[in-house]
Amino acid sequence: MNILLLGSGGRESAFAWKISQSIHCKNLFIAPGNAGTGAYGKNVNLSITDFAAIKAFCLKQSINMVLVGPEEPLVKGIHDFFLADELLKTIPVIGPQQTGAQLEGSKDFSKQFMIRHQIPTAAFKSFTKETLADGLVYLESQRLPIVLKADGLAAGKGVLICETLEDAKTELVAMLQDAKFGEASSMVVIEEFLKGIELSVFVVTDGTSYKILPEAKDYKRIGEGDTGLNTGGMGSVSPVPFADEAFMKKVEDRVIIPTIEGLKADGIPYKGFIFIGLMNDGGDPYVIEYNVRMGDPETESVIPRIESDFVELLLGVANGNLSEKQLIISTKIAATIMLVAGGYPGEYLKGRGISGIENVRDSLVFHAGTELDNNVVKSSGGRVIAITSLKDDLFDALQTATADAGRIYYDGRYFRYDIGLDLYNYQKEIS
Ligand SMILES: Nc1ncnc2c1ncn2[C@@H]1O[C@H](COP(=O)(O)OP(=O)(O)O)[C@@H](O)[C@H]1O
Ligand SMILES: [Mg+2]
Repeated sequence: MNILLLGSGGRESAFAWKISQSIHCKNLFIAPGNAGTGAYGKNVNLSITDFAAIKAFCLKQSINMVLVGPEEPLVKGIHDFFLADELLKTIPVIGPQQTGAQLEGSKDFSKQFMIRHQIPTAAFKSFTKETLADGLVYLESQRLPIVLKADGLAAGKGVLICETLEDAKTELVAMLQDAKFGEASSMVVIEEFLKGIELSVFVVTDGTSYKILPEAKDYKRIGEGDTGLNTGGMGSVSPVPFADEAFMKKVEDRVIIPTIEGLKADGIPYKGFIFIGLMNDGGDPYVIEYNVRMGDPETESVIPRIESDFVELLLGVANGNLSEKQLIISTKIAATIMLVAGGYPGEYLKGRGISGIENVRDSLVFHAGTELDNNVVKSSGGRVIAITSLKDDLFDALQTATADAGRIYYDGRYFRYDIGLDLYNYQKEIS
């Protein structure tokens, strides 16, 4: 098969690495890719939202499958675009159509979906500019802290957790009246604050059946001990020790099955990944959000634990016979550490030469924000390289990934030394 993968981050590097090992893969193209993805296929200079250019490329290269990494093309309707085109409609796209992508593209849509299908989630109410006054009154009746979410895509910046009523009111006005997050905050979801520990659960579905991929925990804050500003993710670990069999059974019964059945009941076709952001509150799962693609950096921990052929799985999604496919998951522990740029997540350094990748001993190297400049690997994004170590033991995985992260150098390089230590301590406590 000729496969086109859209995206350029660490997630796409992990996908590309895995797809290139498939017996089904003849040619892999990554658009636009990064300085690392060229090792698994051919980078193509295409914009992931330029559907006309993607069409021309697919026809020219006889593409047999398109895997969409990030949410933006899905929310903008790339799958619908393929289905509506006489020449493209037989090329399967992995990722939902626009209606399904609303699970991520609109927080209000996803909350209504969860309520409709009795999926456990925080209580909420949505407001617009027209109902701002009602929203301010509603805030007064709520417990603190309270969560304000821009309805639309806001690049991971549209959620505010307000500790005081005054702060919540100020922010609600800023979002609705002053368009703090642009069009994305023309509607705001106000929701109850959930306590507990977060984890990410991943499901792949052909719209009829589903398979549960390895779960993961990610580390969002820039600083050690989960302090400082939010980032796109500083690391991840899979599996998650507290996601034991009993908990995962609850997740499947209360969240996954109602989600798949809910999509069917609502007449929403869905072929692709569902990323369920969960809060574990005393052993009970609550959905924080849905994403309609895999997570980053979770994918860098999840994919290396999949032992079976990944393209075979994607073929099951495309052809609607996912239930016949095998998914073999390794019992090993994957630990991923993200190397980021100096200054990130604020203004950060770019264009710095990266050295030492060849010194990595025992980990997978997944490029993220890197580019080739005259054959020199340079940093180009905030999250630069993900290092994943796969070991029998959590401590060993964490230590190996940390040591290998230290072997890579560039001006301003930063990474966290404490990824996964909370899970290690938890494991020690329960054993
Ligand atoms: N109801 C909630 N209670 C507690 N924390 C929340 C709640 N909703 C979101 N959060 C926190 O905010 C983060 C971002 O919210 P999320 O809904 O995942 O939005 P996005 O990923 O689109 O920015 C979550 O990972 C979680 O840490
Ligand atoms: Mg999130």
